[in-house]
Amino acid sequence: MKQYNIQIDENGKLRHFLTTEGLKRQLLVDILDHAENFTSVGNRSVKKIPLLRGNTIANLFFEPSTRTRTTFELAAKRLSADVLNININTSATTKGESLLDMLRNLEAMHCDMFVVRHSQSGAAHFIARHVAPHIRVINAGDGSHAHPTQAMLDMFTIRRHKKEFADLRVAIVGDILHSRVARSQIHALTTLGVHEVRVIGPETLLPREVQNLGVHIYHDLHAGLANVDVIIMLRLQRERMTGALIPSEREYFELYGLTPEKLAFAKPDAIVMHPGPINRGVEISSEVADGPHSVILEQVSNGIAIRMAVMSIIMGNRFGNDEERE
Ligand code: CP
Repeated sequence: MKQYNIQIDENGKLRHFLTTEGLKRQLLVDILDHAENFTSVGNRSVKKIPLLRGNTIANLFFEPSTRTRTTFELAAKRLSADVLNININTSATTKGESLLDMLRNLEAMHCDMFVVRHSQSGAAHFIARHVAPHIRVINAGDGSHAHPTQAMLDMFTIRRHKKEFADLRVAIVGDILHSRVARSQIHALTTLGVHEVRVIGPETLLPREVQNLGVHIYHDLHAGLANVDVIIMLRLQRERMTGALIPSEREYFELYGLTPEKLAFAKPDAIVMHPGPINRGVEISSEVADGPHSVILEQVSNGIAIRMAVMSIIMGNRFGNDEERE
């Protein structure tokens, strides 16, 4: 799916945020640098800055979400935007209203931004192509295609722990086939210049085209984890599986589940990441998920800063503009 140019305006600036694929390194670094400004906002007694005051942001989640939906809402509120959380199940789409008609109505309410999660790959691109020119669109996860803000909060978390991307070996483990997160991470990691990206999983869970993305493929977890700095575990996306791609969860855990014994193959200071939701005892043991190498909850916190950064960048109201005048 090569539709990412729609997210860049004629001056090379980010207009929508739909995918990490095809974005220049400097643009990704700018998002990471800009997010550093927002990490302290959550520690203030009044957790708000006025960068998006007067803007209205609609969250359109056509698929379940805990982390992404709530951190987008918190990020928008901390930027002082007005937030509409559209409950799709009680919206007029259940009475046959089309997606585009729904968007036209939200445009008529003077919304400035749509944050979209959808089970169909390409949904956010479709919406970005059809909205009024002043409206910005952020992809909060579309099918198995992309989840760009998740990838950027993961890059932010890695940089906070490991500093130089060029020195790093990063392993992504599990159901790569159905993972929009893995695709967005691979594009971001390779653009940021990591030394090596490895994908580890059974053949049935690795997409054929993954070898074209500049990654090294492993089917053996022990070999794949040797000497890595960062381990990203992924859950089995049962809701996207059409057949029996693994023998059983118990056997999967034996072969690919991350336990303290398997973690010992990585570097001693390796960090363990997971975009969530985690399935304990399937892809990761509780000892690892709650252990000293885990940065899983840091990822969640960093999601607020990254989403504040992306929203303020695409609205053209960067930190240091209005905020300092208050
Ligand atoms: N990481 C992630 O997208 O989690 P949610 O599905 O809870 O938003």
